[in-house]
Amino acid sequence: MTDDLGILINRLSEAKNVVALTGAGVSAESGIKTFRDPDGLWSKFNPMELASVEGFMKNSDLVWSWYRHRVDVINNSQPNAGHYALAEIQKLNKFEFTLITQNVDGLHQKSGSYDVVELHGSIIRNKCFDCNEEFIDEIDSNDVNLQRCGYCSGKIRPDVVWFGEMLPRNAILKAENAAINSDVFFSIGTSAEVFPAADLPIISKNRGSLVVEINPNRTRISDLVDIYLPYTSAEILPIILNELKGIN
Ligand code: OAD
Repeated sequence: MTDDLGILINRLSEAKNVVALTGAGVSAESGIKTFRDPDGLWSKFNPMELASVEGFMKNSDLVWSWYRHRVDVINNSQPNAGHYALAEIQKLNKFEFTLITQNVDGLHQKSGSYDVVELHGSIIRNKCFDCNEEFIDEIDSNDVNLQRCGYCSGKIRPDVVWFGEMLPRNAILKAENAAINSDVFFSIGTSAEVFPAADLPIISKNRGSLVVEINPNRTRISDLVDIYLPYTSAEILPIILNELKGIN
């Protein structure tokens, strides 16, 4: 075990509250593209065109069909060893564990994690752009046509947070509260470029939490964290899980 891993396991053995904030990198090993890596979605697509209210108002068909394609990719992917390790860590019940994700793909839940705080919503859920009512109709996986609300005939959109939109209030309150009270805070597979999620590791650090970053590439918070682990999430999380299982 490296020194860093030893320190981490020691702190986890004494921790009461542990938080993990995840980003797109956690799903990379499931075959889902990240946003800001060199081959990421935002290297090919314009986020203002595809992930903003203005973009949807301008070309709803294009935005909707892009999300249908992403849903198709997600429906055909499986959680990886990183997702499963996080679910197992939660089930060990060694501490209160809060899993906060910026991911909209539902893979944490699919791997068995529960009470996941979804900061950026879910691509699997849809809602009406006009009246906000949830849209629960089954949509055929090949159907990329824009759907209409059964209540007000408004356009249906994915229940994700777009640029310029507020995060779901309950989710951000829960996340901030967990960050404030954490003894160990993991930032995993996120570039920490998007706020307010990117504030959470800093909030934890200021409250004395041990902040650990897991990411094969350095990010804007790598110099601020207590421990930087330069591995992929599917490589290192199962190792952390195994070490935790060895603690009484
Ligand atoms: P980014 O694409 O910005 O960052 C992904 C991070 O994952 C990068 O720092 C990579 O180095 C890292 N990474 C890649 N593969 C990895 C692996 N196997 N294991 C661990 N880390 C790996 O994605 P996010 O930080 O999640 O917003 O982006 C935040 C938000 O920006 C997203 O939620 C999305 C996007 O616009 C919305 O959709 C609202």
